[in-house]
Amino acid sequence: MPQATYHFPRGFLWGTATSAHQVEGNNTNNQWWLWEQAGRTDGKSGLACDWWGGRWRENFDRAAEGGQNAHRMSVEWSRIQPTPDTWDEDALERYRAMLRGLRERGITPMVTLHHFSDPLWFYEMEGWENGDAPKLFEKFVRKTVEALKEYCSLWCTINEPNGYAINGYTLNVAGFPPGKNSLKLALKVIANMIRGHAAAYHAIHEIQPEARVGFAAYYRSFVPYHPWSPLDRFVTKNIFNGVNNGFPSALATGVMKTPLGNFNIPEAKGTQDYFGFNYYTRDFVTFDITKPATLFGRYFFRKDAEVSENRFSANEPEGMFEGLKWAHRMFPDLPIIVTENGVEDSTDWLRPRFIAEHIHQVWRATNFNWRIKGYFHWSLVDNFEWERGWTQRFGLWALDENTQKRTKRPSADLYAEICRENGLSSEMVQKYCPEVFEKLFPV
Ligand code: BGC
Repeated sequence: MPQATYHFPRGFLWGTATSAHQVEGNNTNNQWWLWEQAGRTDGKSGLACDWWGGRWRENFDRAAEGGQNAHRMSVEWSRIQPTPDTWDEDALERYRAMLRGLRERGITPMVTLHHFSDPLWFYEMEGWENGDAPKLFEKFVRKTVEALKEYCSLWCTINEPNGYAINGYTLNVAGFPPGKNSLKLALKVIANMIRGHAAAYHAIHEIQPEARVGFAAYYRSFVPYHPWSPLDRFVTKNIFNGVNNGFPSALATGVMKTPLGNFNIPEAKGTQDYFGFNYYTRDFVTFDITKPATLFGRYFFRKDAEVSENRFSANEPEGMFEGLKWAHRMFPDLPIIVTENGVEDSTDWLRPRFIAEHIHQVWRATNFNWRIKGYFHWSLVDNFEWERGWTQRFGLWALDENTQKRTKRPSADLYAEICRENGLSSEMVQKYCPEVFEKLFPV
């Protein structure tokens, strides 16, 4: 039996990712809370993982014990700026304590400034549809970065702007607030988020010249179902991949190209110090005249794919490699950080091999000398899954949200071994997911 270890470059960041609304609890002043009270989510966030009540400590202890040297968390805009004209200094102090808590445990923080949740006052003025949104976001960013810069220099401005806009403004199927259905509005929202990102990028560098600033792109791997079909190829390349390409290519060129015309945003050009990359799954895409809502494309998982508990994603590790190749080609000079990757799996039947197979693909990418600098697993502990509420479990640690009890899943031990070794070894695969041993360590 072959014995080997796939090692990663020195200084590689190994961590987990979380977001404020999903873990803090009692976030009563944002649009998701409203959405929850209106019954638009599967259950309510309630206390979530009670990080606001102080239970971040036990989770950070577990992360440190598990060999993690980095953590990506987000701050909640509606706590820091509860009304347009007020700042909550206590909230900022609490975030400072959390970041200090990470540092004390030897964990490098990455802070996301916007992860899907908006303050109610901002939501009530149509949020990111409003032309003032970029300016308002910049004001919040300035205040926050000034307060937290002592502990953090790695910033993620906006999480998955394409996911936010598509889920909230098109299709009307995914169930994100505000639940509108207008491609035109979705594009306007994305354009304003690009402006907001660019304003934040410049502001952060003004306050903290050594900062490294990026955003987190949601990348979904799309493959034409019939590779020979020009129509399947057309919808895959021009429509579905457009969803991947829009935001990043605007940062590369200063122009956001859309089917409804172009937006010139010159100040956005070159506003990234690293490329943040979130990857979960892959779809096949075929042309379908009966699907105008999805621009004449139908998408589905591969027939024999291994699909997660609630059919949220398919285990398609090769899509990770394809995505990293895409990111590297788009930004050959930028370091890449995998800012999210994970799977919903309450019983941990799939997660160990999901982790091993995806990390193996990241390792392959590092061997081309693409500058991959870190991997953040989603997530450290089960947390509130947006419109899916508590029905999906992404944690290395399970959470009973009624008792706040955490229970370690076997995947947490596998991930800890990977983090400590800075690599994936044949022994680990043999121990935690022998079913993929031959695939990962062929004779
Ligand atoms: C989001 C996370 C979410 C995860 C799983 C990602 O797209 O950034 O907030 O929990 O998907 O649904």
